[in-house]
Amino acid sequence: MNEITLDIAAPDDWHVHLRDDEMLDAVAPYTASTFRHAVVMPNLRPPVTSTAAAAAYRDRILAAAGPDARADFTPVMVLYLNDDLDVADMLAGAADGVVFGAKYYPAGATTNSAAGGSSLLGFRSTLEAMAGAGLPLLVHAESTDPGIDLFDREAHFIEHQLLPVVEAIPELRVTVEHISTRAGLDIVREHAQVGGSITPHHLTCDRTDLLANGMRPHLYCKPVINSAEERIAIAEAATSGDPSFFYGTDSAPHPLSAKEADKVAAGIFNAPYALEVVAELFHELGALDQLEGFVSHHGADHYGVARASAKVRLTRRADADVEPTDALFTADGTEVRIFGAEAAARWSWEPLAD
Ligand code: DOR
Ligand code: ZN
Repeated sequence: MNEITLDIAAPDDWHVHLRDDEMLDAVAPYTASTFRHAVVMPNLRPPVTSTAAAAAYRDRILAAAGPDARADFTPVMVLYLNDDLDVADMLAGAADGVVFGAKYYPAGATTNSAAGGSSLLGFRSTLEAMAGAGLPLLVHAESTDPGIDLFDREAHFIEHQLLPVVEAIPELRVTVEHISTRAGLDIVREHAQVGGSITPHHLTCDRTDLLANGMRPHLYCKPVINSAEERIAIAEAATSGDPSFFYGTDSAPHPLSAKEADKVAAGIFNAPYALEVVAELFHELGALDQLEGFVSHHGADHYGVARASAKVRLTRRADADVEPTDALFTADGTEVRIFGAEAAARWSWEPLAD
């Protein structure tokens, strides 16, 4: 028996890591079959810093999207902001419809961030050019100052690196990616030009889940999952209907060998059950009426792209009597753990004819 059926506009993923080669082939079909837009992170090795590299990567993504990809699936390409990025090339790429914006990583903050920057305001002329051309800046907001406690690093970065830029260049559209604390929520609420993406894992897990009952490396990501208070505030923001907050999965696959290691790689692979997890949370919070705004409308509105016309039907089963797999294998046999199998036991979804 079905408990709930819900039709929503086709969702978007405003932040995802699709990698390359065998990993790309294995993970891209999940994103391409679920989401209309996917903003694809440029933290490959080497990073994607040019229009030519972004166009070639977009072609590889489309080739890997698989037979079940949505007809309107669109990889949205952002360049990695560092000294290699050439402003004229970025603006030409934007005019050609290849480049959407740029992503800033503080060097050393997370996976493949070594090529990132040490001062966001140091890129002022590039950021002003982006503002002039209407290109958004996507920010990994996390201090790399070794003197700052891990759980305070988002707040520290926002105060010392991001706020000065938001105030100096108010015309620049900014996204605080994968918000993990109230400091991230606050800067979004206080500035109309700033939006915030929120992940399924920051919505549903806290650091007690991560650390208290046997350390769980598959819940380790950057910015690290924070306290219960922060998680509850994030879930309230996502379910509130505030159009400044939208879905970005930050799905980030790593081989099992890198996750179950002496030094655990940061990243959670959630693309296969990304809709199910967020639907179950909104259901638990009595906020299913806010789901469409969060996953389908708010991001499109923030970025000034048209809302989807196509719809997706979500169904919640009364009995959780299926056991979705939590393992994915790439063609070369590499195992990747999948986040969210429990929620997937409740929910299913299907695209509806346009
Ligand atoms: O946990 C994370 N993993 N956070 C990031 O910012 C990068 C990502 C990755 O690429 O694995
Ligand atoms: Zn990411």
